[in-house]
Amino acid sequence: MIIAIDGPAASGKGTLARRLATHFGLRHLDTGLTYRAVAAALLAKGLPLGDEAVALDIARNLDLAQMDKTVLSSHEIGEAASRIAVLGGLRSELVRIQRGFAETPPGAVLDGRDIGTVVCPKADVKMFVTASAEARALRRTDEMISKGNAADYASVLDDLKRRDERDSQRTVAPLRKADDAHLLDTTEMDIESAFKAAVDIVERAMHS
Ligand code: DC
Repeated sequence: MIIAIDGPAASGKGTLARRLATHFGLRHLDTGLTYRAVAAALLAKGLPLGDEAVALDIARNLDLAQMDKTVLSSHEIGEAASRIAVLGGLRSELVRIQRGFAETPPGAVLDGRDIGTVVCPKADVKMFVTASAEARALRRTDEMISKGNAADYASVLDDLKRRDERDSQRTVAPLRKADDAHLLDTTEMDIESAFKAAVDIVERAMHS
């Protein structure tokens, strides 16, 4: 059983993926963390983000169990991850690792940008989770404030739009809804209603 969840930054896909995994007894992989882990290692070494040979080497030695979401969730690492995500060779290596995770029984929920289109094109269920840029910026701002960080709505919105643009315009595996993915627009939903809608989509797909 493989559930593929794609969507733009701050769409809520990560929370949904984690909760779906718990609900259906599956493992969960936030594939954004794999790009973030490679970017963080490059930043830590002071190496240019375009150095694909080093990035590949880091990716080949990546240990999924060691990826720490708290450490990797910084804004700087997210920006760097989006920049290295255009490197085709690096993507192939990370996709290989992500597929290995997905295909290990009993299956998994993966969330990212290209899960339904590239990583798991034969996933049992595909979802494209989205929300307006304004709604996503508001949620991200609230989340930052609740963690005690400073946050400015206008600059968060600006950053999100720039990241959407970079993630959807790149030539390799751009952010795109797979033709057979269910669209889940959470602009007007809270997390509970979004979760119910997502469970519904999975159950309907399982019984069809
Ligand atoms: O979901 P996130 O913010 O953690 O992702 C960070 C960056 O990694 C995102 O801007 C683009 C890239 N990414 C990708 O290209 N493909 C994926 N499957 C997941 C993330």
